Amino acid sequence: MSYETLSASREGPLGIITINRPEALNALSNKLVHELISALAAFESDEEVRCLVITGSERAFSAGADIKEMADMSAVQMSMSGHFFPLWDRLGRYPKPVVGALSGFVLGGGLELAMSLDVLIASETTQLGQPEINIGVMPGGGGTQRLTRAVGKYKAMDMILTGTRIGADEAKALGLVSRVVPKEAYLEEAKKVATEIASKSPVSVKLAKMAVNKAFEMGLSDGLDFERQLFYLLFASEDAKEGMKAFMEKRKPVFKGK
Ligand code: HXC
Repeated sequence: MSYETLSASREGPLGIITINRPEALNALSNKLVHELISALAAFESDEEVRCLVITGSERAFSAGADIKEMADMSAVQMSMSGHFFPLWDRLGRYPKPVVGALSGFVLGGGLELAMSLDVLIASETTQLGQPEINIGVMPGGGGTQRLTRAVGKYKAMDMILTGTRIGADEAKALGLVSRVVPKEAYLEEAKKVATEIASKSPVSVKLAKMAVNKAFEMGLSDGLDFERQLFYLLFASEDAKEGMKAFMEKRKPVFKGK
């Protein structure tokens, strides 16, 4: 399938989505959001794809919602048009693991997009921020909730109320990204991580992702119960039997996603 605002390609078990609106620093237009949703759906139904990578360009992962497109919208249009929000709903329930390969500007809705992914790899050039306050609005794609859960109330308040950007090293120290690498290496590193994830059992990856995400929504004892149920469930999978058998036979497991 071909798209106007991004490219989507398969590399072995990986589905790679590259956002491509260089003229607008990969700002999230309505078209881009809906093309992203289509590309996500296509990779979800492709059984060969075990992990996704979403990236942008070296200059910008995404500078946020497309301000030029948004500027004249009314509140009713914003709430009724399905403009941005279906993307976050889709990502919130996306069953396959998604690695974000970040570089350059990761701002506003771009950071909210990144924070909806599962593992974030950043180039040393990455600048992350929620600058919506500078244009008289506020985060609307989950920033007030996800950034606060990721970095704590006081840093989130600082970033959201002042619009100040942080660099890759600070983001790593705060736990907002997991690895920072030189700018030549961020995409390769993200693919390496994605390939590693793709080599595991898709059943255990899917349930482990689900359990970690529930940590944002459940209290500790309910979350622990939920985790335990998924752990029991994995004992019904062929992959779990294969993984443990392969360990005892001192060989590499062959996971089939069953
Ligand atoms: C539309 C954008 C854009 C954006 C950049 N551009 N960001 N167009 N929407 N978010 C365009 C510029 O207009 C310009 O095109 C071109 O990209 C290059 O940008 P410059 O500003 O010339 O580059 P630079 O001086 O390097 O500054 C980079 C920047 C700045 C610091 C990232 O562009 C900037 O502040 N952008 C806005 C960031 C922002 O406020 N994001 C939050 C948006 S609100 P032209 O053709 O004009 O030269 C949001 C709400 C999310 O995300 C809600 C989700 C539901």
